[in-house]
Amino acid sequence: MSINSCDFNYLRQLMRQYSSMVLDSDKAYLAELRLAPLVAKMKLNSLGELISKLQTQPLSRLHIEVVEAMLLTETSFFRDGYPFEAIAKFILPQLISNQRGKRRLNVWCAACSSGQEPYSLAMLLCEHFPELAHGQVQLLATDLSSKMLDRAREGSYSQVEIARGLPKQLLMNYFHNSGYEWQLKDCIREMVEFRQMNLVTDSLTQSFFDIIFLRNVLIYFDVETKKKVLDKVKQVLSPHGYLFLGSGETTLNLDDSFQQLQFNKAVFYKLRS
Ligand SMILES: C[S@@+](CC[C@H](N)C(=O)[O-])C[C@H]1O[C@@H](n2cnc3c(N)ncnc32)[C@H](O)[C@@H]1O
Repeated sequence: MSINSCDFNYLRQLMRQYSSMVLDSDKAYLAELRLAPLVAKMKLNSLGELISKLQTQPLSRLHIEVVEAMLLTETSFFRDGYPFEAIAKFILPQLISNQRGKRRLNVWCAACSSGQEPYSLAMLLCEHFPELAHGQVQLLATDLSSKMLDRAREGSYSQVEIARGLPKQLLMNYFHNSGYEWQLKDCIREMVEFRQMNLVTDSLTQSFFDIIFLRNVLIYFDVETKKKVLDKVKQVLSPHGYLFLGSGETTLNLDDSFQQLQFNKAVFYKLRS
């Protein structure tokens, strides 16, 4: 199933408009791969038919379905390892000693995809800081995609997803087997609040977060959008809080209010005082 350049340009514009994602001009194959199942489900004959349906109606459920099918949602448990080590060994001990039980800690996992990232944080808390895990930490996870958020809330993962990064001991402690899937136990699921949010157009009203994960999403935005999102993050990052980006992302040359720090091989950011 192929897409002509005119239809592909329309799709690129739609992606840009709804998600701010920049779809490179050489990614037509991605549209062909990702949208073929939708074309089949709708019993259409071609991608061209799908695109003309979109072009002839105002923004609808179908437009959102197409955008969601095109979003890159790759994730895994304890992705890249080092950030989680830094949180367990350096950041949480420091935050706990700073706040000395005065208030609960707030953690925001932005662009959380199907939930492996916030659930990794929840399991880490249960393992290393059981006294905090229940009631002393607010774990908010957001994403643009309602489809991904539904998956995340469900907390059910395939063997392949489990094999990508989840230590065996945590599998045994926090999952039970249900057919071909592994179901996360409620004690972990209930620690995370999932909410739909577009990082570019929506804002959080919550005051301050002690840890913000904004990983592997800035890479899909243009420079102006990256700056805009970092500016929003800055408004809700606690003066003593920490920001984590993906391993290929940085605040350098985008926003100099952030200072880069390192713990072992983990790189993260703090607001300059
Ligand atoms: C590659 S995944 C990263 C998942 C996770 N943070 C990680 O590093 O493993 C990127 C996520 O960003 C989300 N996303 C893309 N554009 C977004 C936007 N404008 N606002 C919020 N989330 C967005 C996608 O739906 C997707 O789930």
